[in-house]
Amino acid sequence: MKIAILGSGGREHALTFSISKSNKVEKIYCIPGNAGTSELAENIALDINNFKTIYEFLKKNNVDFVVVGPEDPLVNGIVDYLEKLNIKVFGPNKIASQLEGSKIFTKNLCKKYNIPTAEFGVFENAKDSYKYIDNAKHPLVIKADNLAAGKGVYICREKAESYLAVKEIFDGKFGIANNILFEEFLEGEEMSYFIISDGKTFKFFGSAQDHKRVGEGDTGKNTGGMGAYSPSRLFNEELEKKILEKIIKPTLKGINDLGTKYKGFLYAGLMIIKNEPFLIEYNVRMGDPECQTILPTLDTDVVKILQSCINENLIEIDINWINKKSLCVVLCSNNYPDKYEKNIIVNNLEKLNLDENNYLFHAGTKKQDKKIYAVGGRVLNFISISNSYSAAKRNIYKNLKRLNWEKGFYRKDIGHKVIDK
Ligand code: AMP
Ligand code: GLY
Repeated sequence: MKIAILGSGGREHALTFSISKSNKVEKIYCIPGNAGTSELAENIALDINNFKTIYEFLKKNNVDFVVVGPEDPLVNGIVDYLEKLNIKVFGPNKIASQLEGSKIFTKNLCKKYNIPTAEFGVFENAKDSYKYIDNAKHPLVIKADNLAAGKGVYICREKAESYLAVKEIFDGKFGIANNILFEEFLEGEEMSYFIISDGKTFKFFGSAQDHKRVGEGDTGKNTGGMGAYSPSRLFNEELEKKILEKIIKPTLKGINDLGTKYKGFLYAGLMIIKNEPFLIEYNVRMGDPECQTILPTLDTDVVKILQSCINENLIEIDINWINKKSLCVVLCSNNYPDKYEKNIIVNNLEKLNLDENNYLFHAGTKKQDKKIYAVGGRVLNFISISNSYSAAKRNIYKNLKRLNWEKGFYRKDIGHKVIDK
């Protein structure tokens, strides 16, 4: 089989790696990929938001199916575009992708189907928003409706912060704003819960906790993700039952009621309060770095799983997992998430100890003249699976020391909620 993967992050390297282990695979294309994927696949330098050139490439090269990694092309309808041209795609269509593309769409769905989530209100202009703020309880959560690469969310401790958030959103900081979302602040602990769906059935695809903040102790600016561990310490059977009955099943029904199906990965960002789940957000893709953390524990041929979703017979497949703990630490360029240097050489990669329990997945890297350069903020993902989180963490930090990359930094407390106790 020939398979293409769209994207260039750690998530896509992890997907490429898992796909490459399948004996069904003859060739993998990564569009555009990174230095890591180029070891396992052929990287193709195309823009994943230019659907026409993607289609022409897939058609010309007789690709059997394509896996879409990031949210942008999904929200913009790449699945609908390619399916119309008879290309097989793994990922949700444009209607279903609104679960990530529009926060207000998701909140309205929650309301209609009684899905537990923070209380909310929607306003169409700054004047009404200011009026609301005057009497609102703080902290108050204010969100831009559209995709904002995780940045359109403000947790406002006091009124002045709320006014500023409203101003920035309506001034167009995250694109044209026709409305704004206010949410009650939920105090609990976050957990990521994943499923894979073929539109008829769905199956569990792991749980995790990620560390979004740049600083130790979960402080400082938000990032794409500094590390994660899986399974989440909050995960238990009773909680899972609630997540499925109160959140996942009504959501999939909501999508069906719109006359379509949810196909692909679905990532529920949850706030857990006293073992009760509340939906914070949906993502219509795997998480990054959760994908890198979870996939090494998958014990079933991923190609078989993806294919069964495309063919709508996921019900026939058992998805098995290795019963181990997994941890991932992200190595970033100095100064990330603010402006960082690009094209910095990364040496010592050959010194790393990598085996069936220790993995390295590239993110913002490129290969030139047989050398590896950092070109993104998040550069490399170090993963280890083990019988304990602390052993996994030790293995990772040993590899980070072997690499000894002076131009980068990483958090030394990934998994602190499960390790430092
Ligand atoms: P989102 O992009 O909607 O996931 O929001 C980003 C982050 O903001 C989440 O991961 C939470 O840490 C936080 N957050 C969002 N909504 C709420 C809420 N209603 N209450 C508390 N924290 C929230
Ligand atoms: N790990 C957060 C995300 O993928 O959005």
